[in-house]
Amino acid sequence: MNSELLHLARIMPKAELHLHIEGSLEPEMVFKLARRNQIKLTYATVEELKAAYSFNNLQEFLDVYYAGMSVLLTEDDFYDLTWAYLKKVHDEGVVHVEIFFDPQAHLERGVPLGIQLAGIQGALEAGKATLGISYRLILSFLRHLSEASALETLELARHHLDRLDGFGLDSSETGHPPEKFARVFAECKKLGKPITVHAGEEGPPEYVWQALDLLKVDRIDHGNRAMEDEELVERLVKEGKTLTVCPLSNLSLAVVEDLQKHPLVEMLNKGLKVTLNSDDPAYFGGYLLANYQAVIENLPLTRDHLHQLARNAFEGAWISEAEKQKHLADVDAVFS
Ligand code: ADE
Ligand code: ZN
Repeated sequence: MNSELLHLARIMPKAELHLHIEGSLEPEMVFKLARRNQIKLTYATVEELKAAYSFNNLQEFLDVYYAGMSVLLTEDDFYDLTWAYLKKVHDEGVVHVEIFFDPQAHLERGVPLGIQLAGIQGALEAGKATLGISYRLILSFLRHLSEASALETLELARHHLDRLDGFGLDSSETGHPPEKFARVFAECKKLGKPITVHAGEEGPPEYVWQALDLLKVDRIDHGNRAMEDEELVERLVKEGKTLTVCPLSNLSLAVVEDLQKHPLVEMLNKGLKVTLNSDDPAYFGGYLLANYQAVIENLPLTRDHLHQLARNAFEGAWISEAEKQKHLADVDAVFS
């Protein structure tokens, strides 16, 4: 049974809706870019850096994640990073990606937003042309920084709206509730762009309520802890709200104790529109296909569950109805 599901997971067309491009920065590339930019790293070897990839919680990961991305300085760096991700997922059967980037982290190092965008979007366009991967690019605000910093970043973003497909919110969740950014996302809404925020990864169900009621989100990133609140689950099901769940991330950041205890199957059985994603694959031990393989191997996932996951990803994607129907027909053909 597992071998059939593993085969289907490999061949079915896949979409990824929750991927931080900086989280696809592999240790080897950290060293390559450090050499290119003459940056001295605190780690002597790739192995030493990899040894630091052991986390007890979200914050421990974020400290390493922000340190790692400090090697990204030029347009070429952002291009190479994004291109490497696209090549990897193309080999896994991914046909559509919606990726985050964290502009404030790079602005702090003096990298202009235009440079970040030129590199990332340049690679995304090349991926569309040569690999056939369609894309959306999401500017994500850092919630550990101030509302003022987010508003300043949004002012910069106004010059690049043609290159931005939506807005997100990530970084340290606890102590930084969605309500802190209510005015920021009200401005984003006025721009007519969709919104997705990290909520209920480490933070309580209340943060998911706030994301829905105050930020008027189109999707929820993670959302695991919504499962603690029956009324919230009912609301998410009723609204058909997409949740971008990331099993290997959840394991690495101790959101779940082990994969056998991951709530994915319960979430699907309750009718939540769950999708599978990799979050920060260079840090969490695998790209999108590895996340599918991990849940197939560790959970009582059925063929119908897998089919539903594949469909949910395209249904939750920010693409036209016609594109959705085309991808859904391709998915259904694999499962027919
Ligand atoms: N930034 C990158 N990955 C993240 C995660 N899993 N949660 C919050 N912020 C992040
Ligand atoms: Zn994330």
